[in-house]
Amino acid sequence: MNIQIINGPNLNLLGVREKSIYGSSDFESYLSELQSHFTNITINYYQSNVEGEIINKLHEIGFTFDGIVLNAGAYTHTSIAIADAIAAINTPVIEVHISNVYKREEFRHHSMLATSCKGVIAGFGMHSYRLGIESLLLNY
Ligand code: DQA
Repeated sequence: MNIQIINGPNLNLLGVREKSIYGSSDFESYLSELQSHFTNITINYYQSNVEGEIINKLHEIGFTFDGIVLNAGAYTHTSIAIADAIAAINTPVIEVHISNVYKREEFRHHSMLATSCKGVIAGFGMHSYRLGIESLLLNY
């Protein structure tokens, strides 16, 4: 099984950025934990701060991979273009957030992407990514 994690803007600064909200672990350390938890799955990782690059990645892998776990960061709340890209591809996309966006500022309560995604997971810290992968493994 081939799964892609995509992180959007500012998520390259995990472990440095607003630690009280996003924690003190960088994503690369968490990724090696994830890979050792899911031994039968190939987990690919891509991060970009650029909206068009995220769209290009969705196009590139969205017809062949088994699942995508996407944290689009602030683009979640603004990007019709990423929503259209998710709707255009065949691979199911799970929207994830580290923080519970519904407990935060009102502008974070709305997702432009959620209607195109298979499901949404928010508020479990880095474990949101693990739950995202788990949800792709469910057969229902
Ligand atoms: C985030 C929540 C977004 O509102 C924010 O812009 C981020 C991170 C999260 O993982 O909690 O950059 O997606």
